[in-house]
Amino acid sequence: MGSVFLLAARRPSVGDGKRIKWTRPLSLAVFLLVPVILAGCDWPEPEQVRRNLHLPEPGFVADAGRGKDLFQANCAGCHGLSARGTRQGPPLVHKIYRPKHHSDTAFHMAVKSGVRQHHWNFGHMPPVEGLAPEEVGHIIAYVRREQRRAGIQ
Ligand code: HEC
Repeated sequence: MGSVFLLAARRPSVGDGKRIKWTRPLSLAVFLLVPVILAGCDWPEPEQVRRNLHLPEPGFVADAGRGKDLFQANCAGCHGLSARGTRQGPPLVHKIYRPKHHSDTAFHMAVKSGVRQHHWNFGHMPPVEGLAPEEVGHIIAYVRREQRRAGIQ
């Protein structure tokens, strides 16, 4: 596809009569085809995206208090009792995990699919099974609260 656009974008130079003959119909064809191709694309429904990413239902209200217990039971073994880190995993109360750098969706993805080692040297994080998206939502609220208390915005 990219090369077709490149061809179409090539402007015929002066005195290059041959190229003018076929680039004109070609650019016209591309111009007409683009809306057809786009119309054929099936944009995923927001509901489908939400489910694929394992995100909570719209209108869900997270509770940091519940998140604390869920965090202690599922994450603290590696990330530490107050998300301050252990020898098995990094602190999540750390500026690299602030919301701008690791969004809530990144947290959901980490729990659902695991994390390849890339920021630290603790090895990979395995997926954490058996947590509903809403439960992960509570956990994130707890981690965000701990981050704010530590001055990480
Ligand atoms: C078996 C150990 C282990 C457990 C259990 C664990 N993690 Fe992790 N987690 C890690 C390690 C190690 C990393 C760091 C990977 C790296 O960046 O090198 C990590 C990274 C992350 C990240 C950063 C993701 C990214 O995109 O860089 C998030 C968010 C996270 N964990 C959340 C959680 C939550 C929430 C739980 C509990 C539901 C949890 N983890 C349970 C080991 C663990």
